[in-house]
Amino acid sequence: MNTTKTHTISLCMGSSCYVNGSVPILQLIQQFIKEHDLEKTVELKGSLCQGNCKNGPSIIIDNETYTRLNCTILQKILTLKLLQATGELNE
Ligand code: FES
Repeated sequence: MNTTKTHTISLCMGSSCYVNGSVPILQLIQQFIKEHDLEKTVELKGSLCQGNCKNGPSIIIDNETYTRLNCTILQKILTLKLLQATGELNE
């Protein structure tokens, strides 16, 4: 069984990020992965506090940290990081 993932997304599940909106961020990531059939290439996991509590919600995608996320910004980041890199976008 090949379990190698191409991308890793680590979403902060700490209390500060929760208050700042990590739940809709999680829902958007899950929806994005499902819509683009990325279950086999993207590992989504929760993390403890990432040290960005004042700037949450915080996520780390492939070792890059993103903070002050909202769904509009995250949609653009996911498209750039997960789709353009795989060539799914053919614009
Ligand atoms: S609780 Fe998310 S960065 Fe601290």
